[in-house]
Amino acid sequence: MQPSPVTKYRPFPPVDLPNRQWPTRSLTAAPIWCSVDLRDGNQALAQPMSVEEKLEYFDLLVKVGFKEIEVGFPSASQIEFDFCRRLIDEKRIPADVTIQILCQCREDLITRSLEALRGAKQAIFHLYNSTSPKQREYVFNASRADVTAIATRAVAFLKRSMAPLVAAGTHVRLEYSPESFTSTELEFALEICEAVTDVWQPTVADKIILNLPATVEYATPNVHADQIEWMATHLTRRDRTIISLHTHNDRGTGIAATELALLAGADRVEGTLFGNGERTGNVDLVTVALNLYTHGIHPGLDFSDINGIREIYERCTKLEVPVRSPYAGELVFTAFSGSHQDAIKKSLPHQKPGRPWDVLYIPIDPADVGRSYKAIIRINSQSGKGGVAYVLEHDFGFTLPKLMHKEIGKIINDLADTTGRELTPAEIHAAFQREYLARTAPLALEHFKTTEKDSAVKCEARLTLDGQKISLTGSGNGPIDAFVRALATTTLPKFEVQSYSEHSLGKGAEARAVSYIQVKTDRGATLFGAGIDTNIELASIKAIVSALNRALAKR
Ligand code: KIV
Ligand code: ZN
Repeated sequence: MQPSPVTKYRPFPPVDLPNRQWPTRSLTAAPIWCSVDLRDGNQALAQPMSVEEKLEYFDLLVKVGFKEIEVGFPSASQIEFDFCRRLIDEKRIPADVTIQILCQCREDLITRSLEALRGAKQAIFHLYNSTSPKQREYVFNASRADVTAIATRAVAFLKRSMAPLVAAGTHVRLEYSPESFTSTELEFALEICEAVTDVWQPTVADKIILNLPATVEYATPNVHADQIEWMATHLTRRDRTIISLHTHNDRGTGIAATELALLAGADRVEGTLFGNGERTGNVDLVTVALNLYTHGIHPGLDFSDINGIREIYERCTKLEVPVRSPYAGELVFTAFSGSHQDAIKKSLPHQKPGRPWDVLYIPIDPADVGRSYKAIIRINSQSGKGGVAYVLEHDFGFTLPKLMHKEIGKIINDLADTTGRELTPAEIHAAFQREYLARTAPLALEHFKTTEKDSAVKCEARLTLDGQKISLTGSGNGPIDAFVRALATTTLPKFEVQSYSEHSLGKGAEARAVSYIQVKTDRGATLFGAGIDTNIELASIKAIVSALNRALAKR
């Protein structure tokens, strides 16, 4: 990098718009969406989609709810032409969907594109030419007047040449893009858009689409919003114009630029699923749409099976949706951090049906996009007690007492530290089994029986201690008390029961009880034991044995 001062790059000039309105507005409605996956997105693929893949992708876009779909650049290649023809000839375009095709401002290409559209019910003919000073100078060696003439002549030619298509029943709308709009002088962008509109003569009922692309993103989103508001307030036929956005993501702010430009008055958004597109991509429509949804505005697009959409996208484009991609990434409904897990776990019970979504750290209900809570909490060495308790409860049905969370959290955390990787729920369950439920050494319970007399409970227990059989008796105010008193007659460490809880595991004939008992040993240590049995009394006796074995193991 160049050392400071950086002279190689310049700041992007601000727009003179003292009365700008967009900063104090809020979004209240969804825009018109247009998917450009099959054109801009496809153009950017190392291996462009085959016709079959494009057909599958088209069906996906229709299913998601796009009503305007740019299907390609039919004059650019035979595959693009054939794809457009197949859509029309095989009657694959639903009545409420308009296909859009892209075309340069050249007569031969316009003629060929019109052939591609023959038989379509409705179509958007998208003409573009590049307008920025550097494009004019380096690429076209053309003046402003030349560039304007390229656009207006093309529109006039299209208007004349499409007459037979229109007569045959195709409704054609015009979209014009001053390509590289955001790098073009605003007065010139306005001038060329006005000139194109003069030729096309839109009506209020049949508007022109003026697409104002951030072909390359050079500015901060506020400047983009200013550019759009400037255009929206200077166009003479605003009531006959749909202002369309087409942002790319070179600075990583394509979504922000789109959102602010919607505040600035734009009506329509072009982009792709998951932000595929040239260089850093087109704007990601999944995110723009679901951002609206999470502010209470239905986007009119259906992402309720985001995994299914992602699967088709990845298969057809051979790209991967990054694991952190908003809403759709593999890990976006997963919390590793202990404090986040704890807050999620604490806020989930407050989430009552019909109430606004308020689960901490999860801005959208995963169920709304067809994902489950199951994977919300995953455990690695960064995770905490809340997360472990969540997994044991949600995946295996163990509702551990709150006081036990810290203890089991530390055990699992140590295990994750040792393995140096994420632990699966099965591994967490196995560790819990090993640590609490499956301990039979040095003390193992062989037999336990109680009898009741005059409100006192008497117990008889047979155990093995380091392989030696011992028989004990004791009496108390309940089975636990009787067993603790019986154990007090041995050389085992003395302890007292601090807390006890139990619940059933499973339902019906299969149901078992699980008990959690916290003991305090004569050395002042407190620790838990847990036991499972079909008999609730035995479950708690096993929990005491478990606690004692753990205490002995620590010694
Ligand atoms: O990015 C762009 O400017 C384009 C135009 C063709 C609209 O894709
Ligand atoms: Zn583009």
